[in-house]
Amino acid sequence: MFQNLAPAAVDPILSVAEAFRADPRPHKLDLGVGVYRDANGNTPVMTAVRYAEQQLAQTQTSKSYVGLGGNMRFSRVVTQLILGNAEPTGWFTMQTPGASGGLRLLADLIAASRPNATVWISDPSYVNHAPIMRAAGLRVASYPYLDVASGGLRREAFFEAVAGLGQDDVLLLHGCCHNPSGVDLEIDDWQQLASMVSQQGFLPFVDLAYQGFGDGLEQDAAGLRLLADASEEMLVVYSCSKHFGLYRERTGAALVKSAGSKQVQGKLFELARRSYTMPPDHGAEVVAMIIESAELTALWHSELYAMRQRVQSTRHQLADALSTNGMEAEYLCHHKGMFSMLPLSEASIARLRDDAAIYIVAGGRINLAGLAPNKIDTLAEAIVRLAA
Ligand SMILES: Cc1ncc(COP(=O)(O)O)c(C=O)c1O
Repeated sequence: MFQNLAPAAVDPILSVAEAFRADPRPHKLDLGVGVYRDANGNTPVMTAVRYAEQQLAQTQTSKSYVGLGGNMRFSRVVTQLILGNAEPTGWFTMQTPGASGGLRLLADLIAASRPNATVWISDPSYVNHAPIMRAAGLRVASYPYLDVASGGLRREAFFEAVAGLGQDDVLLLHGCCHNPSGVDLEIDDWQQLASMVSQQGFLPFVDLAYQGFGDGLEQDAAGLRLLADASEEMLVVYSCSKHFGLYRERTGAALVKSAGSKQVQGKLFELARRSYTMPPDHGAEVVAMIIESAELTALWHSELYAMRQRVQSTRHQLADALSTNGMEAEYLCHHKGMFSMLPLSEASIARLRDDAAIYIVAGGRINLAGLAPNKIDTLAEAIVRLAA
């Protein structure tokens, strides 16, 4: 049966994680996989999550199935968190197995209603965007985004590409903390997109995986909300992996704005039923409990604030350390969220791995949230020495 299987595609992030695990050198440094680590290199269970889990362990009376849409209380509270309104007109929210599950579900929805649609993703983009869209049978094209040399947005080229989009096009954007570049759209850019969407009729699709890691929970959703107000139809996927630290609990949501909300809901349920059927409940219940409790919400906010501060401070420290070693990297201080891209060639990335046990994803993405303070100087020195 399986002799003729083509070799599996290599995932650029997971393959770095694997090579890192296999490296016996004790001083090795992993800047690849996108998880937050504290100053001691741990990815902790957040205290608000632990409290909610303890409470849940005491009070949960059943593990019976939930519905196809998952945990309804979760959907309600995260709709409020994302859109600033728990019951916005025309929107339907359903819980999904992480944002990844949501991306695939919404890709299947697009394919079911507009099979000849093209999904436009940023250049560069999250490594799994194109594979997920293609797996649903959709065409993928890319729009200019990052100017590697300056570490900024290719604004003119970006808007020129968006100006060419029409009714068969889906524009996939990162809500905040762009992965892999850290370069975000300004609020004026979102405003401009909002006026273009109503004139051109393309479908905006926003991936919100790092809310609260940029400037704050509200600030990081502001652009998405502007676009939501201007769009008759819109898609959003959302992840609890990073800002609740619930990575392995596979907790996320898909949101759809449309005039035919009931029809969309029916189709989404059908699509879910024939793949995973129901999303896992644990993480969603924990999130609902945290947001429904003023005390746990305050605790979660303070923990998220501390994570954001740590990443921002790491950005400044790395820029300073690189500058001390003779490399200007001021742009790192303007980027948002966990990632930035260093202008490194594939040969430099290989040298950093082979000579200094420093693991960086192909393309030069580094996870600043994975960098301990006592490793910053070593990293800066190695980059300048080996990246020439
Ligand atoms: C932009 C983006 N979207 C989606 C995801 C997937 O998130 P989840 O863990 O919720 O599937 C990630 C994870 O790294 C991401 O960076």
